[in-house]
Amino acid sequence: MRTAWRHARLATMDGDQPWGWIDDGALVVEGEHIVWIGEDRALSARPNIDREVDLHGALVTPGLIDAHTHLVYGGDRAAEFEMRLQGASYEQIARAGGGIRSTVTATRAASDDVLLDAAVQRARALMAEGVTTVEIKSGYGLDAWHEARCLRVARRLGDALPLAVRTTCLAAHTLPPEFEGRADAYIDAVCSWLPSLQREGLIDAVDAFCETIAFTPAQTRRVFEAARALGLPVKLHAEQLSDQGGAALAAAFGALSCDHLEYLGEDGIAAMARAGSVAMLLPGAFYFLRETRLPPVAALRAAGVPIAIATDHNPGSSPALSPLLMLNMACTLFRLTPEEALRGMTTHAARALGLADRGRLAAGCRADLAIWPLAHPNELAYWLGQHPRPRVVFGGQERVA
Ligand code: NIG
Ligand code: FE
Repeated sequence: MRTAWRHARLATMDGDQPWGWIDDGALVVEGEHIVWIGEDRALSARPNIDREVDLHGALVTPGLIDAHTHLVYGGDRAAEFEMRLQGASYEQIARAGGGIRSTVTATRAASDDVLLDAAVQRARALMAEGVTTVEIKSGYGLDAWHEARCLRVARRLGDALPLAVRTTCLAAHTLPPEFEGRADAYIDAVCSWLPSLQREGLIDAVDAFCETIAFTPAQTRRVFEAARALGLPVKLHAEQLSDQGGAALAAAFGALSCDHLEYLGEDGIAAMARAGSVAMLLPGAFYFLRETRLPPVAALRAAGVPIAIATDHNPGSSPALSPLLMLNMACTLFRLTPEEALRGMTTHAARALGLADRGRLAAGCRADLAIWPLAHPNELAYWLGQHPRPRVVFGGQERVA
C-alpha cells in the first residue's frame, strides 16, 4: 500500500537549506517508511500510488523526538518546589535526603500499573504536541529490581502507545540510602546489573549523573567502562551545576550526547567536537531551577557541535510536558534560532539517540510526521501558553494522540 501525502509545505530538516524547505511538496509512504519525497509536480510521474491525501498546503515537519526524559516515576515534588521558594536550593534539598531520593521512595512504593498509567498520561501530552519518539531513563529505582521494573514499564509504554520508546539505564543517578557512605560499592552494584538488563532487552544506552551531589568522574568512568564492555552507547548528565570535566570524559567514550552543559568549558567543547557528541540543552531545567549560567551556545556553534533540545521531563528539575514550550525557551533563554531549535528536536535529537532513520523527511526514513495548522515553521517556537495541535503520523499510520 503506497500513500501519497500531497500539497504540503515541507520543513524536511534534511540538507543544508533553511528548514530543508519544499514549498509545494509531496511524500510517498509505503509501510512505515518514506519511499519518495519531492516537489508535488514531480509526483505525477510516480506509478503505483494506491491512496492520495491532499494536505491543502499544511505545514509538515518530522515527528518531534524528545531525546531526554525521566518519564517513569511515582509521586511529585511540588512540596520541594515550595521549599525552594522559601529559600532552600536544589542542592541543599538533595543533600538533606530529599530531591531524587524522595522520588525514589515514591517510585519504589508505586505498583507497575500506577507507574505505567502516570507515564502514559505524560507521554500522551508529548504526543499531542507532535512527539513520535521518546527516550525514557530509569534512575528512580536505584536497586536491581526497581531499576529493571521501571525499564520494563518504559518498554510497556512503547507497546501501549504508537510512540517509539528508547530506554536508557540511569542507575547511577544518585546514591540510594542503603549505600550511604559507600558510593564506590554502589557503582560496583550498578556495573553488575548492566549485563542482565541488557540480556532482557531493557536498555539502549547508559547514562550517569556526574556532579558534586551525585557521582565523581572516576565513578562515572567505571560505569562507562562496564557499558563499553557490553557494547552499549553512553550519554551523561554533565556540567549541570558545576564543571566536573564530565563532558570530556563522556566524549572519550564516544558519548552519543552530553546533557545540560551550563558549566561546560573549552576542553569539554573540543572533546565533544572531536567525538561527534551531541550537546543536549535542557531549557526546562535551566528555567525551573532558576539557573543563571547559560550553556556556551556560541562556542558550541563555532566548534560545530550539534545542539539538541529536550523536555528533560522529571518531577524535580523540569516538570515540563510541552516540547513546543521547550523550543520557545531554547530561543528566548539560550538564543537559538527557531530553526536551530527545531533541528534540536528532530535531526539532532535523532543523532543523540543514535538513530539514523528519523528526525528528517527523506526517502528511507520512518514516516513519522507532524502536520501543523501553521503558516510557517518559525511559529513552532513562537506560541506561548497555548500550542498548535498537529495531526500526528507514526510510522505511516495517522493516530489520534
Ligand atoms: O536531568 N540532573 C539530574 N537528573 C535530573 C533531575 C532529577 C530530579 O531532580 O529528580 C535532571 O535534571
Ligand atoms: Fe535529566
